[in-house]
Amino acid sequence: MIEVKDITKCYIVKKKKEGKFSLFKKKEEIEALKQINFTLKGGETTCILGANGAGKSTLIKIMTGILTPDSGNILINGQNPFENRTQFLKNLGIFFGQGTQLWWELPVIDSFNIIKKMYDVDDKTFERNLDILDQYFQIKRFLHRTVRSLSSGQRMLCDLASTFLHDPSVIFLDEPTIGLDVSIKNKMYEFIRYLNASTETSIILTTHDMSDIRALSDRVIIIDKGSILFDGKVEQVSNIFKDIRMVTVELLDEDTEQLNTLIESHQFGTHISKSGVITIEVNTSSHDLNGLLSELHSIMPNLSDVKIELPDIEYVLTKVYGGGLNE
Ligand SMILES: Nc1ncnc2c1ncn2[C@@H]1O[C@H](COP(=O)(O)OP(=O)(O)O)[C@@H](O)[C@H]1O
Ligand SMILES: [Mg+2]
Repeated sequence: MIEVKDITKCYIVKKKKEGKFSLFKKKEEIEALKQINFTLKGGETTCILGANGAGKSTLIKIMTGILTPDSGNILINGQNPFENRTQFLKNLGIFFGQGTQLWWELPVIDSFNIIKKMYDVDDKTFERNLDILDQYFQIKRFLHRTVRSLSSGQRMLCDLASTFLHDPSVIFLDEPTIGLDVSIKNKMYEFIRYLNASTETSIILTTHDMSDIRALSDRVIIIDKGSILFDGKVEQVSNIFKDIRMVTVELLDEDTEQLNTLIESHQFGTHISKSGVITIEVNTSSHDLNGLLSELHSIMPNLSDVKIELPDIEYVLTKVYGGGLNE
């Protein structure tokens, strides 16, 4: 069980005052977390969802004892992250999508062996876990290459794998899918589903990517500007956007008028970005997506690139703030 009670965290940043010769530095406080409270049962996958800067990484760092909170308490399986650190860390797997815990100049297997020693993993468990990880991530082919020589996707897979070698009972994954292509993301989802189904492992992952929450979690906690905005079942959140697709096309001047007519006649919502790119919000329960695509092709014969995506976190936040969860 994981208990997070009244956690607050402020960062103090020193800013130079304006003026070239000023000797004074202005202090600025950034309230990264404001009174965060939740309890997680063991064996669940929980997704902490939030935009960039919401406070997700800060929360993970506090829960794993990397950062101290200004106030509040954490208990993970009855242990406090700041007491008896070695023992505490033995039960944890921690992964940061934007960093690496592997040794850059060493072959991957050497890093794995160091981790094996650090965590006292016996040979049998080590071999078994390597086999399972290889089944999902095909990492054995990289083991004798240096971390430096791997592509970023390959490195992330090895890094992820290293998080699980010691059979941790609680795993923290901070933006584990950031920058991964779809096929590698899917492998990761499969592996997490396997862990969830066949072990008592608790997984806490952060993301701003809607496809992650659709694929993975039992429970979703949305944080925004350091506060919990929603805490509940994944279906409640995914219902907000399950029928919505964002269709993005590059806009050429000559197409503008016809496109506007099309959008108005169907009453689509749109967003136009500065660089001549237009995003059309399509509710597929009331509009035919394929019909729209063929209409687009007929009015824009030079159309080369159409993207169809799930809505982003900003869309979901707007709906949540607008009371969309109660509909
Ligand atoms: N080391 C730091 N020093 C100062 N401000 C920070 C530091 N780390 C994060 N912040 C600020 O705290 C807020 C939350 O950041 P973070 O926890 O990294 O958010 P997220 O992981 O959701 O993107 C942001 O406003 C960020 O700029
Ligand atoms: Mg982060």
